[in-house]
Amino acid sequence: MSYIKELCIGNIKLKNNIILAPMAGITDMPLRLLAKSGGAGLVYTEMVSAKALICNYEKTKKLLKMSDDERPVAAQIFGSSVYSMSEAAKITRDMGADIIDINLGCPVRKVAKAGAGASLLANEKLVSDILESVVKSIDIPVTIKIRIGLLPGQNVAYEVIKIAQNCGIKMVVVHSRPASHGHAGVPDLKSFAEACIDAKIPVIANGGIVDEKTAKDFLQVPNCAGIMIGRGALGNYSIFKRLEEFFNNGKKLSLPSKKERIEWLAKHVKCSIENYGERKGLVVVRKVAHYYVKDLPNAAKIRGMFNKIVTLSDFNELIKII
Ligand SMILES: Cc1cc2nc3c(=O)[nH]c(=O)nc-3n(C[C@H](O)[C@H](O)[C@H](O)COP(=O)(O)O)c2cc1C
Repeated sequence: MSYIKELCIGNIKLKNNIILAPMAGITDMPLRLLAKSGGAGLVYTEMVSAKALICNYEKTKKLLKMSDDERPVAAQIFGSSVYSMSEAAKITRDMGADIIDINLGCPVRKVAKAGAGASLLANEKLVSDILESVVKSIDIPVTIKIRIGLLPGQNVAYEVIKIAQNCGIKMVVVHSRPASHGHAGVPDLKSFAEACIDAKIPVIANGGIVDEKTAKDFLQVPNCAGIMIGRGALGNYSIFKRLEEFFNNGKKLSLPSKKERIEWLAKHVKCSIENYGERKGLVVVRKVAHYYVKDLPNAAKIRGMFNKIVTLSDFNELIKII
């Protein structure tokens, strides 16, 4: 039996159960298209504020720009009130999302101060009220992304998964690091296994998955329905196809060569320029450019040069000397 299989989120069938994680400031439409072409079964927009959507902020709405080529696509919202989350879910659906995801995992101060993200996990009643209301307000699948707990050793995920399935949530992603650890440290595999043992809806593992070994550690957990990859996919979009090939056919494909990574970077730049225009398109890619060149001997120098580039012709000159 292969660990990689089709996955149903409500009425939406994914071609596989390897998913790109939402990452604020990173998983914009150009990057999601790269992940999709690298074999991701599902991609997520970065999180957007429910309140800002209701206020019709243009900048926030732009973050939800989606393309038909990336479908199915999940759009993630965050907020702390039943009303704003339900209204934002409707707006997000009307903007073209196939799935609405609710962020219950973000530990960032600005989000926590507003009572949203991971801090909501301390209030199961409010979580239940929000989930129930959002599910009732729209006719597309609703999913959630949570933390294993707020503090090390704490496991709130088991209870939250139960609440989620009672509210009609169609999938739960568990980032198996406590919220207090941010995105650092070793994921808690044992607590993840305990959290999903009785789940009746798909539970997806997230945190620290970067290769065949770290993927297998989670995929072999009973009842783990799939994996979500964040930083391990950046500049490395073929990881989705490589994992599928490994688990389906036992073949360990080689990591992308330097030439292939530069080709991915060039594709990213092209798509980003098409989306934002020349200057902004290049500036946006700066946030992830280091992932493409990280193992090269002159990585720091290339990064420095990339950070100054504002025209496509300068970029084309740069890649000639990498
Ligand atoms: C720069 C950055 C931005 C992130 N933004 C979001 C976000 O908007 N929504 C979310 O649910 N998680 C966000 N995350 C968390 C990731 O989705 C993921 O849970 C985390 O990176 C752990 O996975 P990884 O170890 O595979 O990177 C972010 C992580 C990073 C590094």
